[in-house]
Amino acid sequence: MTIDYDPFDSSTAADPYPAYERLRNEAPVHWAEATGTFVLSRHDDVAWALGDTDLFSSDAMRGVLLGQPTGQGQERLPRADAMGILVSVDPPHHSELRRIVARGFTPRTMAGWRDRIDEVVRELLAGDGADDPFDVIGRLAAPLPVRVIAELVGADPSDADRFKTWADAMTQVMSGSARTTGMGPEAMLAMLELADDLGHRIDDRQEDPRDDLLTTLVEAKGEDVLSREEAVGFAALLLFAGTETSTNLIGNAVAALVDHPHQLARLQAAPARLAGVIEETLRWESPVQYVFRRTTQPVERHGVELPVDSTVTLLLGAANRDPRRWGETAGSFAPDRDAKGHVAFGWGPHFCLGAALARAETELALTHLLPLLDGATFARPDTDWLDSLQFRGRRTLELTRGS
Ligand code: HEM
Repeated sequence: MTIDYDPFDSSTAADPYPAYERLRNEAPVHWAEATGTFVLSRHDDVAWALGDTDLFSSDAMRGVLLGQPTGQGQERLPRADAMGILVSVDPPHHSELRRIVARGFTPRTMAGWRDRIDEVVRELLAGDGADDPFDVIGRLAAPLPVRVIAELVGADPSDADRFKTWADAMTQVMSGSARTTGMGPEAMLAMLELADDLGHRIDDRQEDPRDDLLTTLVEAKGEDVLSREEAVGFAALLLFAGTETSTNLIGNAVAALVDHPHQLARLQAAPARLAGVIEETLRWESPVQYVFRRTTQPVERHGVELPVDSTVTLLLGAANRDPRRWGETAGSFAPDRDAKGHVAFGWGPHFCLGAALARAETELALTHLLPLLDGATFARPDTDWLDSLQFRGRRTLELTRGS
């Protein structure tokens, strides 16, 4: 029987896992006719494609998500064409760009952010006594990462609302479900405003350097410097890459714990288990469900030939539940397992630059939320999933507190 799966069809969005299972078992290289993409779903295959930048170009990320031209065959687009959208650039230009931006994401810089994240979490949860039900997303999981990215690019905490509007507009345009309807005037305006705002901040840093990420990006170290346009594009990418994703990780972890009271109790008894809970959430309910690549030459896998310049969808969410990699319990939430090797943050050269930041935000958010989760239950029977195919998470997560 043929499998009727398409990554842009929202009918499987609420529960994609049965479709993923069929894909892995029956069609590990699946052709989704409606949107013209091959789909890989097994862990081995997804990791292989993520790691092999000779065969698989990341320019499909800008082709599919932004509708911009890609290279053809072995051709790699010039660095300037990528406008700082690191995730869409192939080596060797990717390595150049990554070396520059990584200067702003060193372990030391990230460790320095922990105190500030802790402060923001406390602020957002202050006076939480009143609301019951308590919306974890609205109160904490959504505003926290936006505040962090806004401050990372040098905005005042009071600018966070504007950054949230911009982040939502970008997510809406690029997340997949809105892809078919294109960019509406409101989203277009939001993107222009964002570029304008970031451009001014960057001009400001060039004249008056500070000890912050934007200065790091435009400060020349020999040849290693971003152009103004690249710096704007990269800062905008951070807003897209680092907000909804982290929101979903926090929300998915809380929902998993409320749904598995036994695991919640074990975590409350031994908070050192938190790192395991976070990694298992990344694996089990991956915030980013898929990414795209383009074949730079004909490729054969499982007896199927993928022609040159095919768009390939890599199902991270399916790879992370592949029993070939995780055994019979792949479909269960089991924080005790060794979740190492999950591809929730990608794999290889494009491995998520913000992984440490996302983990720190989630760890601190959960640490402060834990006491509130005692005896908590879902306030509504249905799950209020985000209107997105590429991102998996909740728009709201309302909890009724335990007595
Ligand atoms: C739970 C939260 C997050 C998840 C699940 C996530 C997931 C991912 C994935 C899957 C990729 C690889 C894309 C590909 O290979 O095509 C990626 C790349 C990236 N992420 Fe994240 N991300 C998260 C948080 C963040 C944060 C907080 C930031 C920044 C502050 C960030 C910045 C980036 C950047 C810049 C890249 C591109 C890296 C490159 O191309 O070299 N991400 N992320």
